[in-house]
Formats: sequence, structure tokens, C-alpha cells
Amino acid sequence: MAASAKTSALDKPNPAEEWTVVLPRRGKQKRNFHKVIVHEWQKQKQVWTPEDVETNPERESKLMQKIQTCIKKLESSSFWLTFLDQLQTPEIFDWFLKAAGSEGKMQMVIYGIGSIESHEPPRLQLSLAILMKRMFSWIGEVEVFDPVISLAESRVLTALGCCVLTANEQGRRQALRPTMFFMPHCEAELYDNLLDANWRPDLLNNIILFGNSFEAYEQHLSVCKSLTLADSRKHILAIRQFVKEFGIDSFSDDFFRAIHGSSWHFFNIDPDLDLCGVKP
Ligand SMILES: C[S@@+](CC[C@H](N)C(=O)[O-])C[C@H]1O[C@@H](n2cnc3c(N)ncnc32)[C@H](O)[C@@H]1O
Repeated sequence: MAASAKTSALDKPNPAEEWTVVLPRRGKQKRNFHKVIVHEWQKQKQVWTPEDVETNPERESKLMQKIQTCIKKLESSSFWLTFLDQLQTPEIFDWFLKAAGSEGKMQMVIYGIGSIESHEPPRLQLSLAILMKRMFSWIGEVEVFDPVISLAESRVLTALGCCVLTANEQGRRQALRPTMFFMPHCEAELYDNLLDANWRPDLLNNIILFGNSFEAYEQHLSVCKSLTLADSRKHILAIRQFVKEFGIDSFSDDFFRAIHGSSWHFFNIDPDLDLCGVKP
């Protein structure tokens, strides 16, 4: 179950939003009375089913074939070797070890992968995640969510060993354990939601994030000076000072569209730091 599905001290209630009191089912009521308060955005994320439910074995097998071809293409590319080399340099690998901590294992959550049936960049991004999982035994279960995923895509992802979430978490998963968030080319708001939901040193230090460069967001804002943009990216901007970021090394045209502008982000926050004192 997604950590963020539970109520916690980190959830910031907004009095303007609605709350629902959920009572236990009849029959159990006398023995085990307690109430669970479900926040409005949590209710929204609880139900998700694919919009495109048309599927058949032929469609699924064609898609599986496409993904397998993509994995092979990536695996035999110089980009994959460069990517691996960079990841295994002590400068970067030490951050993985630090985040994995004593568990020595981390789960992977993939948000915003896009349509792996319709577009090549999402297929390449998924292939990258799958190859990483095959390469590194310390990567545990892989969970995937994008609201555009079709039923056929969902079935193929499952056959590839991924767990497709049935709830739209809005990017607000709490990293109660070491977690790699693989979020290539997501909207800034999704990164900001993730940071907001984990706005505590112990949670942020559990996170490794692969996604759009936070540094680039900051540079862009220093030029365009839009207050609206700054507001929708306030957690990204505020956390920059505690983030160690590594851009992905140069790569060939074939992979450019899938990965350009992406970085690894590692968090290094003093456990005693009160993040309430750090803007936003
Ligand atoms: C800019 S697209 C990137 C897609 C793909 N990664 C690529 O590079 O082509 C952002 C993706 O985020 C997805 N998205 C939007 N809200 C989301 C949410 N709450 N959770 C996960 N993904 C979401 C969108 O459906 C879309 O596919």
C-alpha cells in the first residue's frame, strides 16, 4: 500500500478543503471502533482505472515486442554503457549507498512515464528503468503510475514485473523507506508535490530522484522572474541548497529526446534541521 495513502503528520490540512469520516464496516463496529479521516485529495487519488480499456492478446504482444526491441537497442548502445559508468563512479555511487542505508535496498517508483505504446521516449525511459533493475540487485520492487496508461499497457507493464498503481497519488508518495523516484520529463508540479509530501529531513534523505534538472528550473526562473511559476515550484527552489545534482553525461541523438535535461538528485539534509524554517 502506498505510504501516502495513510494519514500522517506530514499531511497539511487546509480548512477550506473537505474531509470525510470513514467508519468501520458494520459488524466490526462494536469490537473495533475507530475512525479514519480521509482528506479530500486522498479520496481523489484512491480510485484510478485506465480510460482506454480496449485490449486483446495481439495488441499486448505487439507492445511487448516493441518494449523488448527497445530494451535490446538500449542495452547494446554506448549510451547505456556511459550511463552505467557514470552511475558507478564513487562520486555518485556513494550517494546511492547512503540513501539505501542499512536496508541496502530501495524500491523504485516511476511517475509520469507517458504512453509506452504511442511514443518512443517513454519506451526508452522504461527500458532504462528495467535495465537498471536487472543490473542492480539493490533495486527492489518497481511501481509505475501515469494517468494515461491504458489497460493494454498496464498488462504489459505487469508482465514485465512492474506493479501498476491503482491510485493517482499526485506524486505525493512519502518515502518512509529508501526510494528511487524515476520521473523523466515530468511537470514541475509533480516534483513539487513529491517534495511537499516529504518536507522532513528523514524523508527527503530517503529519496533519490531522477528527473528534470532542479538547477535548470532555478536558472530559468532567474531569467523569466514569473511569480506564478516560482509559486508552483517553491519546494524545488527552496530545497536546491541541500541537493547534490549530477546531470546525465552526453549521449547520442537516438536517446536525446528521452533523457535530455535529466539529472540525478541526492538529498543531504541535517536530520536536526527544521525545514519549517526553510522557505517555502
Ligand atoms: C511531459 S509528460 C512526460 C512523458 C514521458 N516521460 C516523456 O518524456 O515523454 C508528463 C507525464 O506526466 C503524467 N502525469 C500527470 N499527472 C501525473 C500524476 N499525478 N502521476 C503520475 N504521472 C502524471 C502525464 O500524464 C504525462 O504522461
